Amino acid sequence: MDDLSPELKDKLTKVCLCKGISRATLKKAISHGADTLEKLQQATGAGSGSCQGRRCTPKLLELLE
Ligand code: FES
Repeated sequence: MDDLSPELKDKLTKVCLCKGISRATLKKAISHGADTLEKLQQATGAGSGSCQGRRCTPKLLELLE
């Protein structure tokens, strides 16, 4: 996977596994103004899966930093 572009890696990397939401989708939402955890979750649906955000919330917060 090392020879893939960063953009392609973002598309292939699922941050929220429950909902299948990629890092690319999350970055796009952030660039469109989702600047808090709540806004990011609302815009993408991340955190609303069966784990209730237990797995993805720390990663969402990292992306928001
Ligand atoms: S991984 Fe995001 S809600 Fe479970």
